[in-house]
Formats: sequence, C-alpha cells, structure tokens
Amino acid sequence: MTELLVKGGTVYTPEGPRRVDVLASDGVIMRVEPGLTTDAGEVVDATGMYVLPGAVDVHVHSRDPGFPEKEDFASLTDAAAAGGVTVVVDMPNTVPAVDSAGVLESKAALAHSKARVDFGLWGLIRASTTPEDLEEMSAAGAVGFKAYLAYSFSLSRKQVLYSPGVDDPDLEAPADYGTLARLAPVVAQLGLPLAIHAEDPTVLAAFRRPLLTYEDLLESRPPEAEAVALSAAAAVARDTGAHLHIAHLSSALGLRAAEDAMSIGTNLTLETCPQFLLLTADDFERVGSAMKMLPPIRGAADRDALLDGLKRGVISVVSTDHAPHTDEEKAQPFEHAPSGSPGVQTLYVSCLHLAKDMGDVWLAPRWVSEAPARLIGLEQSKGAIAPGFDADLVVVDPEAKTRVAAHEMRSRQTHSALEDREFDFAIKHVYLRGEAADSGGKTRGRMVRPALVMR
Ligand code: NCD
Ligand code: ZN
Repeated sequence: MTELLVKGGTVYTPEGPRRVDVLASDGVIMRVEPGLTTDAGEVVDATGMYVLPGAVDVHVHSRDPGFPEKEDFASLTDAAAAGGVTVVVDMPNTVPAVDSAGVLESKAALAHSKARVDFGLWGLIRASTTPEDLEEMSAAGAVGFKAYLAYSFSLSRKQVLYSPGVDDPDLEAPADYGTLARLAPVVAQLGLPLAIHAEDPTVLAAFRRPLLTYEDLLESRPPEAEAVALSAAAAVARDTGAHLHIAHLSSALGLRAAEDAMSIGTNLTLETCPQFLLLTADDFERVGSAMKMLPPIRGAADRDALLDGLKRGVISVVSTDHAPHTDEEKAQPFEHAPSGSPGVQTLYVSCLHLAKDMGDVWLAPRWVSEAPARLIGLEQSKGAIAPGFDADLVVVDPEAKTRVAAHEMRSRQTHSALEDREFDFAIKHVYLRGEAADSGGKTRGRMVRPALVMR
C-alpha cells in the first residue's frame, strides 16, 4: 500500500476551502482532516499553498490518431499534467473520426499506450449515425456525443472538415437539426450529454468570404450563427430529456439564446474557454494567427457578457478547446493558417487568475473540475477532494506567478493564444491517483467511463 499525505495547505473541498490535510492510499482519498500522519508514504508540505482537485478538460483535440506532427496523446497529456489537468476528454474529430465503437476502442487502446493522465473519449454524431451506433459507442465507454453542425464529413478520409462543404459526392453533409431530433431521444435514454459545435451552416453560408484579415474571420463567423444553432438545437432537445451541452460558447448573443432556452426548462449546460474570457479581437495585432480559431475571439462586449455569465453561474464549465497545429502551419499567412490553439497547460492558472479577479478564487475549481466531472458522469470519482474520490491533487502557490512562454509549453504547438500573458498563481505539484504526474513523472493514464444512470 502506498500512501500520499498532503499537509498544511488550504484544501478546496465540496464544503468550501478548509485548512486540512489530505491522506490518500493506493490512489484514492481516504481522509480529509486536520492533523493526519503517515508512516507508509510520501509527505508533501503544502504550507501556504492551495490544494485543488485535478482539472477535467472536457474539450481537447489530441490529433491522435491522424496528425501526430500536431500533437499526440503523449505530448497532450504531458502538457495536461504540467498544468494540473488530470483528465483530458478528447473530441472525436481525430482520423479516422470516432463514429463507431470499433474506432472508439482502437483510439482507447492507442491513448492508453501513451497517456500520462486519465482520458475520456467523445463519440461523433454524423448525419448518417444510427441509434445502434450510439448504443455501441456508449457500451464502449463514450462519455457523450458531439455533433459538428457546420462541419461536413469526408467519406474517403473519414475526417470531419471545417466547412459545411459543397456539392461533392465524397462529402457527407453536416449533422443537422433533423439528425439531432432523430437521435436526441436515444442519447437521453443512454443518459449521456449531447454536445454541439454551435454554428449554423446557413448563417455561415450567407457570410462566407475569403479570410484575408481577422476582420474577415469575424464577419464570416457572426454571433448569429452561434445563437441560431443553439436555439434550434435547444428546441429539438427540449422535450426529449436529452442533456444538451454547448461547446466553446463565444458570444453575448449565444449566451442570451441559451438563457432563453434555460428559462423554459431546457436541460442545457454551457462551456466557454479562457481565450474568450481573456482576449478580444483587439489582441490580434499583438498575438497574430495563434488566436485564429473557430468560433472566433470577438469584441469586449462579448467577453464581458461571458465573464458575467460565468460569474452568475449560467456558464458552468470552462474547457480549453485545446486544438494544436504545428508552429509552421500557424506561421503561414493568415488566410492559410489553420484554426485552433493549444490551451490545456494554462487552463488552471488562467482560471484561478480570472476567479480571483471576480472576487472568489474558489470558483476556479468549480469551473474546471467539479462541473466538468459532473457533465461527463464522473461525479463519484473525479472533481472533488473528499474520501472515496481519486487522489488527483494539484498544489498551487498563490503567491507565485506564471508567465506563458513558448519554451515552457509541452504541446507540439508552442505559440498559443495566451502567450506572454502573466497569471497570478503557479502549479507546484500535480498528482494523478496519488502519484506525481508533473515534471518527469511516470504516471500511466486510464480511460474514464461515465457512471451510467439509465433513464
Ligand atoms: C478545432 C480543431 O482544430 O479541431 N478548431 C478550432 O478552431 N476550434 C475544431 C473545433 O473545435 O471546432
Ligand atoms: Zn468546436
């Protein structure tokens, strides 16, 4: 039996922050009380430190399998471990896309061979997905399903593409509201969340243009696309009992549409990302294509609305949409630079900084750990420091600072949207199920599966 005792810190527990010690045995938290001792393991002095539950990032793109030059499960989970993220939940747009139980199982085996933190896998909803596909992916351990409403599917490449597509026999049209109406009852029955990339393809089509400048990007992806997709998906999900989850909410208009849907009882959760809370379009001049992503980082009014939504608890989850490419690809002229930025390594510190600015630093573990663990059905094992939970612990120095620098990034893409930002707080130690996971750690990640509640 190996024990880990974290002593003398301020621990964020489900009852709030407490001055207690945390004792874990064989990877599981046993006791959370003052004055604990051990003679069978490692003792960590956390005096003056915060002790927080490991983050669960429900929106990452490992690129594995498919594009190992951009990222793989080893580099992804290395970056995650360095940043205090002990569970990464991977989106299904790897190649081949995760549209069946067989692909999900192969991806799980691949991830298992490389991951240094725990991982979960989303399944893909395509226009042609059947109820059986969903049942089989659920049985294989999918945490939920994701539909890309504006992204077509290449049949020959088995790949989700960034655009709604044109008349091409190789392209299957994006999943649409009909697809959601057809499958939401099945997803509800399985008790899993139905996540959407909320951009409406008809709105995007009306604003399509060459993307030569950041202004073009903003005009091509207007907030109406987000609001329309969100409202329509909410209308479809409303009476099915399905839990609809909105990935990377980016706009004030989208937030209003979500609040309207919530006010009439729609089962809806919202996720946003640090880059939408910390940056605005004005930062483009300084940051460049590292902040090119979809949906785009918009203006100050959108940022302020999202901060307010988070403060009011309407937005419950902060994820990263960690979407790396190579530095070379991102350095191409704006028009050709692919969309997405790494973020998993800076999730926790950036959220602690934001929460402190809001006046309650303890909101951060709720956004990045408690709420996302609940979203994917892990509320009995992850997301809290309490007896019986996995000993995924992050020791944070509230007096130190972290500057986001390319040479510190463990991801393959080193220049991120948040480069050069300085955050209060620094990650000191990270434990995955009681074992040191940061710098040089030898932890092995396991696949997480939702504790299914059949309805
Ligand atoms: C994501 C990617 O690169 O996979 N890119 C992005 O700009 N957000 C796709 C996505 O999350 O929609
Ligand atoms: Zn997306």
